Amino acid sequence: MLDPSRMPAHVACIMDGNGRWANERGLKRTAGHEQGEQALFDTVDAARELGIGWFTVYAFSTENWKRPPEEVKFLVNYSRVILDRRRQELHDRNIRIRVIGRRNWRVPRGVSKRIELAEELTRHNTGLTFTVAFNYGGRAEIVDAVRAIVAEGTAPGKIDERTIARHLYDPDMPDPDLLIRTSGEERISNFLLWQIAYSELVFSDTLWPDFGREPLIAAIAEYQARDRRFGKI
Ligand code: IPE
Ligand code: IPE
Ligand code: MG
Repeated sequence: MLDPSRMPAHVACIMDGNGRWANERGLKRTAGHEQGEQALFDTVDAARELGIGWFTVYAFSTENWKRPPEEVKFLVNYSRVILDRRRQELHDRNIRIRVIGRRNWRVPRGVSKRIELAEELTRHNTGLTFTVAFNYGGRAEIVDAVRAIVAEGTAPGKIDERTIARHLYDPDMPDPDLLIRTSGEERISNFLLWQIAYSELVFSDTLWPDFGREPLIAAIAEYQARDRRFGKI
């Protein structure tokens, strides 16, 4: 059972294992990504019902461009399809959609247009904030922040941690309390490097297409059993 007084305010998730899920079934990797869509929206719904304020997922990394061109093409196009298919239902659930990542580098106009549409439609929603990291890299985000700070002519001595945080892709986003990675891999793969300084990490063996409400609850239960000290005793 979850303790309602100790719910994480922000849960972030590295959705991993779609390819292996498909391989295990003798299917093409893209079938794993398709199955992952259902897992994603089941998890979003569960997060919303649990009263979590912020839910962030890693959908496509700056390194994922190195995959075979057919898979890259599928993933990029699929993100457009999903935004078209899910925008309205997320809006109906009072969910605010946000996208973090390099918007104007390699992203086709059709995709960036859908991103703008979804963000605009759901801008004033007050329920869950659902953030999608697309064409996202943690190092690229820090580079972009530094570029913006330098471009503003900020004096070196005036730069502190808050300055960096204010120049990240979404300055309003609180740091994740809990970071989940599925599929048994135990690494960060360039996700939210700045923001996870004090996040609790939970690694789940479940492949992403099998993820959903129950595995999410299990991960939160593990989080609630942790003792967060933030350097104190
Ligand atoms: C996660 O599943 C989806 C993306 C990275 C876009 P993978 O495609 O990485 O699946 P595995 O890790 O190869 O099983
Ligand atoms: C991380 O998964 C990126 C996303 C989930 C979008 P990868 O499957 O790309 O990570 P590595 O290559 O195993 O580190
Ligand atoms: Mg993977």
